[in-house]
Amino acid sequence: MKNYRIQLTCSFGLEAVLKREAQALDFENISVSDGYVEFTGDLDDAAKANIWLRTADKVLLVIGRFQAMTFEELFDNTYALPWTEIIPKDANFLVNGKSFKSALSSVPACQSIVEKAIIKKLQTKYHIEHFPKTGAEYTIQAALLKNTVTVTLNTSGPSLHKRGYRQGQVIAPLKETMAAALIELSYWRKDRIFIDPCCGSGTIPIEAAMIGRNIAPGIMRKFAAENWDFIPSDIWKEARKCAYAAIDYDTPLNIYGFDINSHAIEISKLNAENAGVDDCIEFECVPFNKLELKGDYGVCITNPPYGERMGNLDDVERLYRDMGKLFTKNDTWSAYFITSHEGFERLYGKKADKKRKLFNGNVKTDYYQYFGKRPPKKS
Ligand SMILES: C[S@@+](CC[C@H](N)C(=O)[O-])C[C@H]1O[C@@H](n2cnc3c(N)ncnc32)[C@H](O)[C@@H]1O
Repeated sequence: MKNYRIQLTCSFGLEAVLKREAQALDFENISVSDGYVEFTGDLDDAAKANIWLRTADKVLLVIGRFQAMTFEELFDNTYALPWTEIIPKDANFLVNGKSFKSALSSVPACQSIVEKAIIKKLQTKYHIEHFPKTGAEYTIQAALLKNTVTVTLNTSGPSLHKRGYRQGQVIAPLKETMAAALIELSYWRKDRIFIDPCCGSGTIPIEAAMIGRNIAPGIMRKFAAENWDFIPSDIWKEARKCAYAAIDYDTPLNIYGFDINSHAIEISKLNAENAGVDDCIEFECVPFNKLELKGDYGVCITNPPYGERMGNLDDVERLYRDMGKLFTKNDTWSAYFITSHEGFERLYGKKADKKRKLFNGNVKTDYYQYFGKRPPKKS
């Protein structure tokens, strides 16, 4: 029986991409809200979501949802949830919270009430005064929105952008989840050339290679819920086994990463090796103004310097002009750029076919999309 509401959190602006991913995994009753997507599923689905979703930050089990205008209501409704079936005696449980447009606006006070209610409930089963908190981690969140409280358990642990392959990184790296989203938002398909001319630590080409090879992004990492007693360990074993069986080692990929900085290229190579995709990406130290487009119908997706955290503004603006000159030369190429520089289109010399607002961490950016001609249909 599908008996959980499962919440997938994501960066603002990525909800529609995440919904598409959830649909592709056949999840049911999908709904979309600001900053998250929910579906109805069982614990196998929670494991599958952790292992397969490329753009989600966390997979949360919704333990309860209720109205609360007073601390008493918050306490009583939290106490009524089935904590004794979920949390073992030695659990290292911690409660965090957030509150928006709600009568109960003090987050520390709400956290403290929720924690007290959980402890009181656990004491009915374990009969101890103090919980040792030496065991597995259970992170509970009480999120208040317009007086509705959603109580969740974080099955992922650290955010899912931490795939585990990125040991080295340059200044201002892109989150792996955002890199995957930029690719999902493009028309790149694995039979087309892919380049990132400002690849930094290689995140975008590596994510493209993982998509091209159908490598599940979470295949290498562990999740908090793997240590939970109420989830059978077979669930994770089975989900990983299926993910390994799904890898496509045979389709040839044409993926390239370039950067002006040779150290960045070394880091990219190492990260690609960690991700198991070093054999299908070529990294090379080339400044953008020396780059030539080889072939037709290629796709460029890049996160150039914005002139804020990194890069001298004059150099950055020259780079954007050079980008416009190169990509407008061949109308079969598509090019996608994420930047916070508001003058991007002017410098590039062309209005984007499509523009999408995205948050790169806390930085408000636009994703400028220039579509090239469609590749001819294969006979
Ligand atoms: C924001 S970082 C890219 C970060 C990357 N997406 C990641 O996740 O690590 C921008 C990169 O552009 C490179 N860059 C700056 N100017 C360049 C130029 N003229 N040609 C090629 N690369 C350049 C920098 O060396 C830096 O690695």
